[in-house]
Amino acid sequence: MSTVEVARGRSRPRELWDSTIGKKIVAALSGGVLVAYVVLHMLGNLTSLYGAGDGHARVDRYAHWLRTFGEPLLPYASVLWAVRALLLAALGLHVAAVVSLRRRSLAARPRAHRAKRIGRSLSSRTMLLSGLLLLAFVVFHILQFTTLTIDVTPLREGAVYANLAEAFQTWYLVLLYVAAVVALGFHLRHALWSATQTLGVDRPGRNQAIRRGATALALVVAVGFAVIPIAFWTGVLPQP
Ligand code: HEM
Repeated sequence: MSTVEVARGRSRPRELWDSTIGKKIVAALSGGVLVAYVVLHMLGNLTSLYGAGDGHARVDRYAHWLRTFGEPLLPYASVLWAVRALLLAALGLHVAAVVSLRRRSLAARPRAHRAKRIGRSLSSRTMLLSGLLLLAFVVFHILQFTTLTIDVTPLREGAVYANLAEAFQTWYLVLLYVAAVVALGFHLRHALWSATQTLGVDRPGRNQAIRRGATALALVVAVGFAVIPIAFWTGVLPQP
């Protein structure tokens, strides 16, 4: 069978996945879903800044709303589970596309050239490392605050404000969370920049502005997340 015949036998999604540009598009679009989630999650967390609110913290009411959204039309937490499924699919596609692209680029480059990293920014060089660290952090984070499995500090179901207040009295948890969101900032900065290249919206005349925009968004997200552990640690946010 000729190459053309083999290519004809493949489905369109398969053909797209097999091409480098197809994988880049999958990485960019799935990354976009993850960025949207991260921004919404950061904004949701910021409701902690309203404080303990006489036992009815706004962040607790927000967490409750997330679970009851769509009721009584839809069953309890069904929208939340749909979002979780979408996130998991986006994460799976993102990791698969990025790993496959990395393998392809390593296979295409002669050994002598692999060490050359001249002209690449810090966030570009550390993408794989920051991505892996983030993945490990998210697993730990879900086991801590969502499933309440890792209870380094006391945790109660539905008491988000109290759980955060307790956790962020512990210096190494504050350090861990701040380090994770700094890694997220670096990852996001480079990811946003390369996504604009993949999607073809970069132009010599506007690249400077795109770079600045990516840095600004990464900074807003990192700072927006970091203020919560820091505010509890320093006592700016009161105990419940
Ligand atoms: C200082 C930073 C952060 C704080 C204070 C924080 C806080 C929380 C809390 C309290 C929950 C549980 C919410 C609930 O039970 O309704 C949660 C869930 C979660 N967080 Fe974070 N988070 C932070 C950073 C991050 C980052 C950087 C990511 C991703 C890169 C992330 C991803 C998630 C995910 C995927 C869940 C599970 C959501 C679900 O399925 O219900 N978080 N976070």
